[in-house]
Amino acid sequence: MTPSDVKATLSFSDGSPSMDLPIYKGTVGPDVIDIRKLYGQTGKFTYDPGFLSTASCQSTITYIDGDKGELLYRGYPIEQLAVHCDYLDTCYLLLYGELPNSEQRGTFHQRVLNHTMVNEQMQFFLRGFRRDAHPMAVMTGLVGALSAFYHDSTDINNPEHREIAAIRLIAKMPTLVAMAYKYSIGQPFIYPKNDLSYAGNFMRMMFATPCEEYKVNPVIERALDRIFILHADHEQNASTSTVRLCGSSGTNPFAAIAAGVACLWGPAHGGANEACLNMLTEIQAKGGVAKVGEFMNQVKDKNSGVKLMGFGHRVYKNYDPRAKLMQETCKEVLLELGLENDPLFKLAMSLEKIALEDDYFVARKLYPNVDFYSGIVQRAIGIPVQLFTAIFALARTVGWIAQLNEMISDPEYKIGRPRQLFTGAAARTVKPVEQR
Ligand code: SDX
Repeated sequence: MTPSDVKATLSFSDGSPSMDLPIYKGTVGPDVIDIRKLYGQTGKFTYDPGFLSTASCQSTITYIDGDKGELLYRGYPIEQLAVHCDYLDTCYLLLYGELPNSEQRGTFHQRVLNHTMVNEQMQFFLRGFRRDAHPMAVMTGLVGALSAFYHDSTDINNPEHREIAAIRLIAKMPTLVAMAYKYSIGQPFIYPKNDLSYAGNFMRMMFATPCEEYKVNPVIERALDRIFILHADHEQNASTSTVRLCGSSGTNPFAAIAAGVACLWGPAHGGANEACLNMLTEIQAKGGVAKVGEFMNQVKDKNSGVKLMGFGHRVYKNYDPRAKLMQETCKEVLLELGLENDPLFKLAMSLEKIALEDDYFVARKLYPNVDFYSGIVQRAIGIPVQLFTAIFALARTVGWIAQLNEMISDPEYKIGRPRQLFTGAAARTVKPVEQR
């Protein structure tokens, strides 16, 4: 980071000594005011619940321009990566900072494919769950359990351990998600087949049975691979910040990623794709497009607690570029599957059109985000609604690991330990129970 010529001066109306705070510039995006010395010099904390104005770290991985609706992975626009690269190329880029050449690409793809199986004991963890357990509950357990199998790669401060843990997690997430799905429908687990692509392997583990050969549909394979690319990383979102904070204690990478899975589950975050599909299904059941106006009135009524799921974003105050690409993917998949008249897709398109013309949404700069169309395309592929967020977690694992490794490889990193504004009871004396 580059020191700015401009300083920030903090002064107090009670005449307390003012202080100069350095300002740093990044490559692009907002400058930051360095407050690291603030408490030591003033005895005061800053206050920013939800971190709306707080940079928790410096990073070289992903940049979002919320006003422009721009998303760059290591400087490459998401629109270019979604067309010219595949998910494993994107993993290489996020982990190592550059797109692989053909030799690096081949080696990396092979390394990942060599780690797609999980220890046979993992299936006994699944048996502890009810068949109808939510897949995100299962995934939180399975990913955390991976740390029990890899004692040789759990020293987060050892670069080799970090590298093999990254490869193992990227390789095994599809296997675990597919196992969670097969367990929920009472079908046998399908082992990975390593002559397939990453997405093709996942499709086969999800939809094949031992009774017949499974043929990967290349249009669906490409669509799924693009869905993985679109979800791979997104700077310091809630689950990534969770992984960073968890990993800052020095815990093993599997435990830190399990914490990210747990955070992603929330409907305000990764769980929004499931919530959005449920919302569309509910409106459709009540009458579809004819009921959109009534639904929008509910959304605009603060007391209803109803939100237009898949809309709005803390950073994007313009169209989420991933939503545009997801909508295109949606059209491709629905056409391939002969579902171009899918009522939910038509309902989503009309909801989007109405919202983008409505003052409530325009005034609040609420646009479709990545979750708005992702559920429709996954449902069309045959993925159950409850599994959507597990697939989001599968794709986001590489981003979590890249961000965790970036933090740990910074010699200056410390354990994260925020402070607070205390508004509770001041010191008081315990009274004997008969006097309370
Ligand atoms: C993801 O951070 C990331 O990068 C996340 C993510 C990633 O890739 O990691 O992009 C993935 O989590 C996408 C977001 C998925 N969530 C949803 O689609 C759930 C619906 N969206 C909202 O819950 C909300 O928009 C958030 C949580 C996403 C962002 O909320 P903020 O930034 O805290 O903003 P806010 O809740 O304060 O909203 C500002 C105003 C409020 O109205 P007023 O109080 O000003 O009158 O906009 C309203 C909100 O009520 N609003 C919505 C709305 N989202 C915000 N009103 C109706 N429907 C919505 N969806």
